[in-house]
Order: sequence, then structure tokens, then C-alpha cells
Amino acid sequence: MPEHFLTADGSSTLFTDRFGETYHSRHGAIQESQHVFLQMGLHALPAGKGETRILEMGLGTGLNALLTVLETEEKEIHYTGIEAFPITETLAQELNFSDQLPHFEASALFNAIHESPWGIWYDLTPQFHLLKVEGKLEEFETDDTYDLVYFDAFAPTTQPELWTEAIFTKVYHLLNPGGVLVTYSSKGDVRRAMIAAGFEVEKLPGPPGKREMLRGRKG
Ligand SMILES: C[S@@+](CC[C@H](N)C(=O)[O-])C[C@H]1O[C@@H](n2cnc3c(N)ncnc32)[C@H](O)[C@@H]1O
Repeated sequence: MPEHFLTADGSSTLFTDRFGETYHSRHGAIQESQHVFLQMGLHALPAGKGETRILEMGLGTGLNALLTVLETEEKEIHYTGIEAFPITETLAQELNFSDQLPHFEASALFNAIHESPWGIWYDLTPQFHLLKVEGKLEEFETDDTYDLVYFDAFAPTTQPELWTEAIFTKVYHLLNPGGVLVTYSSKGDVRRAMIAAGFEVEKLPGPPGKREMLRGRKG
């Protein structure tokens, strides 16, 4: 069972014995998610498209989903989160994201992310539709395609099986043309696996405590 852990920006994360890692950077969970997934991912998509389809690898604490719904109020979003080891609602209640985010709906939306059913589309708001999929990315099958992938697995040293050319090829095929994958990792092996899968890869400045991160685009 993961345990609560406080990061340097005052926001919560979890530490898991199963993987021997925290779910987010110890330098700041909210800071990291904001930078890697929202700023370098969501906000870097071309404007003007009516609807955005997002796939998250590792729904975990729900922080990326929460930040996304809070920052896309008027936009139509379909958000699919895959999670192999869902956390309990009790553990979710120990996380302090809602107190750290200056948004009056943060708490209600965070609770709804965790209380909503698995395996069916759920309208978190009239514009934001959430599908929580319990299972492993390796076994995930769908006819849907996506504009943006938040690739948020545990580190390549911890889960090497998820940072391979084969996995990135699978994700590449799930993306629409022009679609984007963002990840906090900047490892050379990861970059090479992404390139081998077909991505055009950029190194970008990382979040606090991390020099670089990667963004891949499907041409
Ligand atoms: C680094 S944590 C990030 C969690 C999440 N994005 C968040 O903000 O809390 C990685 C997540 O991936 C999940 N995970 C691990 N292996 C997985 C797999 N093979 N398929 C899907 N999810 C997996 C873990 O349980 C964990 O929730």
C-alpha cells in the first residue's frame, strides 16, 4: 500500500514500496505536473481544434487529470487514464492537491475523479469526459486515437519494460497525426526508443530539480 509523502512545493505525492519510488518529483508534485504535462503538453497543442483527446499512462493520484480539468473549463476534453494499480479512495483523501490549488471546484472535482466508476465514460463536467481503465498499458486495446499522451510511468530504471521501442510504437499508433507525447524522462535510451518508434523528439527544459524532459511529435 503506497504511503503519503510531502514534496518540496508543499503538495502531496505517494511513495510506493512495490516500485521503491515516489509518484512525482520530490522537488514538487504540482510543479512537476504543471510543467511537464500541462505547460509542455496540453498548452503546446495547436489551438483551434474543437475537441482534445488525452491518454494518460498511469492515472495514479489523479493529479494530471485534476490539473487538466481545472485548466480547460470551456474546452471539450475526452480523457482516458490507464492505471494498473488503482489507489484506494481513502488514500486519495490524504492527498492535499485541492488545498494547494486556488480553485473553488478543485476539491469536488478531485473527489469525483476518484469516486467515478471504472470502465465507462463519466462526465466530470459538461465538457470534460473521463474514462478510467483498470489494467496495464501493455494490454490496453482501443479503437480510439489521441491528440496528447501524458507518459507518466515510473522511472526507466524501475520499469524498463515500459520505456521500450515496442511500447512507444504502440503509443505512436494511438496518436492522431500531429499528436504529442510528453514525459518527464530525458534519458538517452528513452529518446532513442522514441525516435526508433517514429517520433520527432525535442529536449525541453525540465521542471524544478530536473534539467531536461522529452516531447515527441507524430509527423
Ligand atoms: C509515476 S506514477 C504517476 C502517477 C500519476 N500520473 C499521478 O500523477 O499520480 C506511475 C503510475 O503508473 C502506474 N503503473 C505502473 N505500471 C503500469 C502499467 N504497466 N500500466 C498502467 N499503469 C501502470 C502506477 O501504478 C502509477 O500510478
